[in-house]
Amino acid sequence: MTKQTFYVTTPIYYVTARPHLGSLYSTLLADVAARWNRLHGKQVFFLTGTDEHGQKVADAARQVGKAPQEFVDSFIPAYKHAWDAYELEYTEFIRTTDSYHVKAVQGWLQRLIDTGDVYKGAYTGWYCTPCETFVTEKEDNTHQAGQAPKHALCGRPTHAVSEQTYFFKLSAYQDKLLQFYADNPNFIVPKERANEVINFVKAGLHDFSLSRTTVSWGIPFPNDPTHVTYVWADALNNYITAIGYGDKNKLEMFKKWWPADVQILGKDIVRFHAIYWPAFLMASGLPLPKQLLVHGWIKVGDQKMSKSLGNVIDPLTLLEKYGAEPVRYYLMRKMAITHDSSFTIEDLEQTITADLANDLGNLLNRMVALAHKHAIIELPVQDVWFDKAMDLRDDCLNLLQDFSSYMDEYLYHRALARICEFIHKVNMFFHSQEPWKLVHTDRQKFIQILSAVAHSLKAIAILLWPVMPHKMEQLLGSIGVTLKLQNGSIEQLELGQWRQSFMLHKIDTLFQKHEPVVQEVIMQKEEIQKNDVVSNDNGYIAIDDFVKVDLRVGTIIKSEPVPGSTKMLVSQIDFGPLGMRQILSGIAQWYEPSQLIGKQGVFVVNLKPRMMLGLESQGMMLLAKSGDQLKMATVAEPVANGSRLA
Ligand code: ME8
Ligand code: MG
Repeated sequence: MTKQTFYVTTPIYYVTARPHLGSLYSTLLADVAARWNRLHGKQVFFLTGTDEHGQKVADAARQVGKAPQEFVDSFIPAYKHAWDAYELEYTEFIRTTDSYHVKAVQGWLQRLIDTGDVYKGAYTGWYCTPCETFVTEKEDNTHQAGQAPKHALCGRPTHAVSEQTYFFKLSAYQDKLLQFYADNPNFIVPKERANEVINFVKAGLHDFSLSRTTVSWGIPFPNDPTHVTYVWADALNNYITAIGYGDKNKLEMFKKWWPADVQILGKDIVRFHAIYWPAFLMASGLPLPKQLLVHGWIKVGDQKMSKSLGNVIDPLTLLEKYGAEPVRYYLMRKMAITHDSSFTIEDLEQTITADLANDLGNLLNRMVALAHKHAIIELPVQDVWFDKAMDLRDDCLNLLQDFSSYMDEYLYHRALARICEFIHKVNMFFHSQEPWKLVHTDRQKFIQILSAVAHSLKAIAILLWPVMPHKMEQLLGSIGVTLKLQNGSIEQLELGQWRQSFMLHKIDTLFQKHEPVVQEVIMQKEEIQKNDVVSNDNGYIAIDDFVKVDLRVGTIIKSEPVPGSTKMLVSQIDFGPLGMRQILSGIAQWYEPSQLIGKQGVFVVNLKPRMMLGLESQGMMLLAKSGDQLKMATVAEPVANGSRLA
C-alpha cells in the first residue's frame, strides 16, 4: 500500500425493493475495506448508491401503480436508514436519476458517437428483463426453434425485442481486453473468477445495443431522445460520474480518485464489470480500475438470496435482536468472499456467542474484574517480560502480519479466523498462568500477566475496528486507550513494542450470548470424550471407562421440529423398562420427523439432563458422521427396547 488515497465502490442496487442481506454484504465489504485503509491514515472515497432506470424498475413501478420517479424515491430512505444503522460510512450515495449523473452520461455518449464507438443500427433479438441483458439463442442449449430462449445465467424466459438502436462497438475491444487481462493477472480476484470472463471474451465479442426505443424510463440519448440509454451503460458510469467525470469544475477531483483501487461486486454481474465496463473506459480514453473483487452469494438453503426469488432477509430484523456490529462480524467471518455461503440464524447465534461473547468479551471482563478485585486501576509500563509473555508478544506480532496480508487481499473471513486463533491463545495464556494465585506471592508477575493481556486486547481491538468500530472503541476505552485513526495506530502496533501503561475501567457487557443450541450438542460430545473417558498413554481406554457410558437401544415414538430451530428435532423415545425419554438431536437437516418414527436407535442414557431451547434433553442420539452428513446409528435386527450395548 503506497498510494495515500483509496477509492472503493459497490454495485448500485436496483430499487425494486428494500435493501436485503445480499446488498448489505457487498456494501459492508466496501465499508470494511474503507475503514481498513482509514486505519492506515489514507484518504478514502467510498461510493455506493442505487440503479434507478430501465425496464425492470419501470415494470415494477407500473405493477404498483406508481410513476417511476415516485416509485424509486420511495425506497431511498430505507436504503439510507439501513446503511446508517449498519454504520456503513459511505462518502457519496449516487442515484442514477441525479441530474449531474444524467448530464455526464449524455456527454459520455456524445463523445463515443463522435469517435465512432457508438453507431446507429437495428436490433432484433431477445431480452431478459430481470437481468437487463440481451440474450442470443445459442446461449441456451435447450433452445427450440420458434421459441424464446432462456437466459442461461439465470434460467428465466426472455422476450423478443426488435427496434432501432445505437450499438456499442464491443467487437473492436476483444484483443485489447485479452491483452489487458494477460498484463494484469490480479485485475479480477479471486483469480478463478477470471477464467469465465476470459473464455467468454475468447469466444468472440459482438457489438451490443446501447439504447432502447421501447423503454422510456432512462436517460435520453443526446440529440435523439426517442432512444433511452441501455440501463447498464447508464449504471456502470456511476463509478466515474460520482467523482466528477463530465463536470469541468471537478477535473481535479476526478483525477484524484480515478482509477478506483477496488470495485466490489457479486459474481452475478461479473461480465458487465469485467468486459463491458473496461471496454467503455478504453473507448473513453480512461484508465481501468485496479481491481475487481468478485464475491460469492449468500444463500438461504440451496438458493441465492434474491429480490426476484423473494427469499430475502431484511437486515433491519436482525438489528434489533443482535445489534449491527455482531451481524457485521458474522457476515465478514462466515460469508467467505471466495465461495457461496449459507446464512442461518443458528450459525449467527453460535458465532456471536462463541467468538464474541465467550472468547473476546469474557477475556476483557475477567482481566479487568481481576485487577479491580485487587484494587488495581492502572497497569504500569513493563520493562522486562517473562518468557511466556514474550511468546505472547511474538504471537501478537505474527498475528499482525498474517491479519494484514489477509486484509490486503480482501480475505476477511481468513483474517477473522486468524484473529480468533490469537484470542484463543490469549485466553489460554491467562488461564494457564493462573494470575489469581499469584496476587499475594508474586505481585510483579501478576501485573505482568494482566498487562500482557491488555497489550493483546489493544492489538485485537485495533485490528477488529474496521469490522466493529464502536464496540472496539468501547473495548479500547476499557483499557484506557484512544484510537488515533489518522495517526498511525497500526504503525504503532507494527513496531511490536509492548511499552505502555493501561488504565482499567469496567464497561457494560460488550456482547450478548444467544441460545447456545448447537454448542450444547458439541459440548455434550466433548464431555463424553474428554471427561468421562480418560485414555491412558497408549491411546487405549480401560474397560471400566467404556462401561461408564450407558448405551441403550430405544424406539422413536414421536419426533417433531423444535420451535424456533432449523437444526433440532425433539423426539420421545421408548426405552422399555427405563421408560420414555425426551431427547433433542441436531438432525433436522438429515431426517424428516416422519422418517424417524418407529426406528430403533442407539442412545447415551446416563448423561446429565440438559436444557436446550427451553426443552429438557434426557440423553443423546448416536450419529455416524459421513462426509458432512449425519446418519442415525441403529441395530441390525429389532431388539427389546432398553437393551444395553456391551
Ligand atoms: O445487479 N449474496 O443490482 P442488484 C451476495 N443494478 N450478494 C448479493 C446477493 C446475495 N444473495 N444478492 C445481491 C444489479 N447481492 C445492478 C448493478 S452496478 C453498475 C449495477 C449483491 O440490485 C451483489 O453485489 O441486482 C450483487 O452483485 C448485487 O447485489 C446485485 O444487486
Ligand atoms: Mg440482481
